[in-house]
Amino acid sequence: MKIGIIGAGFIGRAVARLAVQHGHEVMISNSRHPRTLASTMVAVRCQVGTAQMAAEFGDVVLVAVPFFAARDLAPQPLAGKIVMDANNYYPQRDGNEEALDNHTTTTSEILANHLRGARIVKAFNAILERDIEKDSRPHGAADRRALPIAGDDKEAKRVVSELLDDLGYDVVDAGALAEGWRFERARPAYCVPLDVAGLKQALENAGSSVAEGSWRE
Ligand SMILES: NC(=O)c1ccc[n+]([C@@H]2O[C@H](COP(=O)([O-])OP(=O)(O)OC[C@H]3O[C@@H](n4cnc5c(N)ncnc54)[C@H](OP(=O)(O)O)[C@@H]3O)[C@@H](O)[C@H]2O)c1
Repeated sequence: MKIGIIGAGFIGRAVARLAVQHGHEVMISNSRHPRTLASTMVAVRCQVGTAQMAAEFGDVVLVAVPFFAARDLAPQPLAGKIVMDANNYYPQRDGNEEALDNHTTTTSEILANHLRGARIVKAFNAILERDIEKDSRPHGAADRRALPIAGDDKEAKRVVSELLDDLGYDVVDAGALAEGWRFERARPAYCVPLDVAGLKQALENAGSSVAEGSWRE
């Protein structure tokens, strides 16, 4: 599969490495000229381009930019594309977003509202970059980790689920994009290694929160 990646930071590069290891074609981009990604191109063995080129390249596109920058992305090249949204909301970094602070919307709904026509699937937001390659396991492995997804487009979720399975993860569908809060920052399912049963339980217990930063310990 061709995977376009917008954002060449921690999470974008980790997913790029994993995807290349599993035989996918990857083009990665940042906010600057592709020449700033020369070392990434060699280290990851992927293609580099502008964000527009990566959007056009991908059968599936990962958006892995800070939440504060997500609404700077141009919607047009992503219209009709399956977009995996890895964004999380950190007020200290992103500034306060009233609708998120009030829990009246979710980060992925905000992105979907901006990227009109894109087929948004919330994915790869609830795993730390340091775990992305380390926790990948072949299908059927006893200690396989499960990752949550959410989205309003069933076919897009099917494609993303198959991709995640191919990349070494079981998948638990948390429902529509509006349910994405269940695995946002500081929820029990956020960035904690869990199997399918454990993840389902954590998504059910989403009403409780965990201590800020505990998922990094
Ligand atoms: N780090 C993790 O463990 C982790 C895990 C799950 C989810 N996330 C979430 O994933 C997102 C990215 O996190 P990160 O840690 O990878 O961030 P990061 O290391 O700071 O990297 C951000 C990347 O986004 C690029 N970018 C910024 N604005 C852009 C634009 N308008 N167009 C194209 N590229 C743009 C930056 O490019 P320039 O260098 O050119 O500015 C940079 O390559 C955040 O929302 C974060 O919360 C992170």
